[in-house]
Amino acid sequence: MAKTSQAILTLAGIDKTYDGAARPALDRISFTVAPGEFFSILGPSGSGKTTLLRMIAGFERPDVGRVLMDGADITDVPPFRRDVRTVFQSYALFPHMSVLENVAYPLRMAGARKAERLAKARDCLALVSMGDFAARLPHQLSGGQRQRVALARAIVCRPRVLLLDEPLGALDLRLRQQMQHMLVSLQRELGIAFVYVTHDQGEALSMSDRVAVMSEGRIAQLGTPREIYFDPASEFVAQFVGRSNLLPIEAAPHEGSLTALLGGRALKGVAVPRSGPARMAIRFECVRLAEAGHPPGEACAIEGVVEDVLFLGNALEVNVRCGDHNIIAAVPTLGGEGYLPGRPVRVMFDPGQATVFHG
Ligand SMILES: Nc1ncnc2c1ncn2[C@@H]1O[C@H](COP(=O)(O)OP(=O)(O)OP(=O)(O)O)[C@@H](O)[C@H]1O
Ligand SMILES: [Mg+2]
Repeated sequence: MAKTSQAILTLAGIDKTYDGAARPALDRISFTVAPGEFFSILGPSGSGKTTLLRMIAGFERPDVGRVLMDGADITDVPPFRRDVRTVFQSYALFPHMSVLENVAYPLRMAGARKAERLAKARDCLALVSMGDFAARLPHQLSGGQRQRVALARAIVCRPRVLLLDEPLGALDLRLRQQMQHMLVSLQRELGIAFVYVTHDQGEALSMSDRVAVMSEGRIAQLGTPREIYFDPASEFVAQFVGRSNLLPIEAAPHEGSLTALLGGRALKGVAVPRSGPARMAIRFECVRLAEAGHPPGEACAIEGVVEDVLFLGNALEVNVRCGDHNIIAAVPTLGGEGYLPGRPVRVMFDPGQATVFHG
């Protein structure tokens, strides 16, 4: 088979339906991962993320399609022969072994000598800032510390690809953020390709070179975090990634050109591909608020009345009733004190930041 240019990992036309299932868990999945890339798979529960990871690790076999590593077909290669390691959400450390022995274990299986195993295990523990915990047993560690040990154990043999299945899912928010920074710098330092599964869009956007957004066994969009965020390919992606208003509009001729109409009001400058009913997505943070009756100057400005306000700490989500529709604006908390229920306001947005979906 011809070598696939540069890719460390290639999935080519993968289908998988579990026995007795009505729908495929994976449906025509194809993508490549570059060497040293941080590649995330983002999707809701049941969208097929773990199945996809198990396919790469070799624990599942595709019904159709091939898995290639460095251009070589590994579809029929068993898991332990693949140059791949996996970190799961629940850290499966050996309870009776010390942290150091746990990390050195894969090297023992690979037949490395004791001095080499311990030296490499110590290096990996240092990489995840766990050097001082080498002698402890797993039950003497916190969840975050155990997960870092699991990570050290997964990288000690320097696999070409590291698979991570919601590895931070069991940790609290602050620890998750610390671990995100650690994972990114670790990945840079090692140069190993990471395939990172998460249902947390913040995690996927902040860490990844590219993100595959999955929905019902298919890739809904594959792109850089910025592409996914600012240029969603479908309503599903717009809703799942970030927080967006989704407003029913009508695309119809107005003053000589095809225009988006919301409740009969023209939203000038919003690009509409064709006439007919459609939906317009605009992110909460792209909506601004001003005094009602504020002098125009914005192509898209709609009068409304504040209905309710959510306090999120650094931002407020202000829900504004505009005729038959509600539009939510995320505004900075500082300066937003005056947005109280019942207050008339003007909602404004830049038409370039709106995305229209037909069908
Ligand atoms: N061993 C199995 N046998 C039968 N069906 C399965 C099996 N494992 C998963 N499925 C089904 O396949 C689909 C995809 O499951 P998968 O575990 O890949 O989803 P996921 O995206 O990882 O979800 P989560 O975010 O909840 O972990 C689901 O509908 C699930 O019920
Ligand atoms: Mg899963």
